[in-house]
Amino acid sequence: MPAAIEVEGLVKRYGGLTAVDRIDFSVPAGSVFAFLGPNGAGKTTTVEILEGLRQRTSGTVRVLGLDPWSDGAELHRRIGVIPQEFRFFEKITPREAVEYYRALFGSSVDPDEVLGRVELLDKRSARFDQLSGGQKQKLGLALALSNDPEIYFLDEPTTGLDPHARRAIWNVIRSIRAAGRTVFLTTHYLEEAELLSDRVAIIHHGHLIAVGTAAEIIAAHGGPARAVFEAAPELATRLTARLGVAARASGGRVVVDLAGPHDALRVLSAAEESGLPWSSFSTERDTLEDVFIRMVGEMDDGALKGESAP
Ligand SMILES: Nc1ncnc2c1ncn2[C@@H]1O[C@H](COP(=O)(O)OP(=O)(O)OP(=O)(O)O)[C@@H](O)[C@H]1O
Ligand SMILES: [Mg+2]
Repeated sequence: MPAAIEVEGLVKRYGGLTAVDRIDFSVPAGSVFAFLGPNGAGKTTTVEILEGLRQRTSGTVRVLGLDPWSDGAELHRRIGVIPQEFRFFEKITPREAVEYYRALFGSSVDPDEVLGRVELLDKRSARFDQLSGGQKQKLGLALALSNDPEIYFLDEPTTGLDPHARRAIWNVIRSIRAAGRTVFLTTHYLEEAELLSDRVAIIHHGHLIAVGTAAEIIAAHGGPARAVFEAAPELATRLTARLGVAARASGGRVVVDLAGPHDALRVLSAAEESGLPWSSFSTERDTLEDVFIRMVGEMDDGALKGESAP
């Protein structure tokens, strides 16, 4: 698939601060790319460079084959943007806003259909300044949908939304992808990134520290899968003796690392053979969030100890 976005050696400096430091990645057309990182990592800076809203210091950037800074006028007709803090004219209603966008881009979308997709139909006649934070975010997405763009740049589109509204936005993102469009998503909800994205990049202090599918990043940086019993600590002692692998006990849980997917059966048999009681058994593995917290934490610890960043 051709790349919708290609970034090579991108650098952005604000005075003495290097907010983005020589990052490389590409986003295939028709995919969802999740761009993750802690506060201040450089996400919005990168997104706004891709959108042509900020000028890069150096590096190569191509979005739909265009240079976002010098070809901004053409690019803006072909992309949809929801900024991190979506604002609009205070007195305008969602329906008027979609109609305004429709006229601006010469698109033929039905405003009610677009507002229905983001579950905002009930507020179509409310003034913007009377919408809740989540409703404003939904309107931002509705406006992005209004000109049927080739790439959607969504900077934290679900921040502050209730769980039901977040799922509505997830469904919209899935439908955008199903229509063959590309989504560049930033989010602090790691499970959302894991669920929705084809590929993930993690940025920290301006450096990319991981790029790949969520499964690849978890496999490369996560710990082993684990068997977990709710049981008294004696079970850990017994399992350690029987299995030759250290079982750990804490907080009413006994945890054993697994050598592979079939190892769970061996662990379960050993627990049965011990004759000791246990009330529940499950297996767990690191999520993208576990891996993210560990990677970012380890790098911050390294920085505190005076090691240089990569
Ligand atoms: N216009 C600016 N002038 C100076 N420094 C800036 C400017 N915009 C951002 N920065 C700095 O650049 C760094 C990256 O900021 P950026 O907004 O890209 O982070 P982010 O990853 O989007 O964070 P968040 O998750 O909090 O939205 C931060 O240290 C920030 O203070
Ligand atoms: Mg940001």
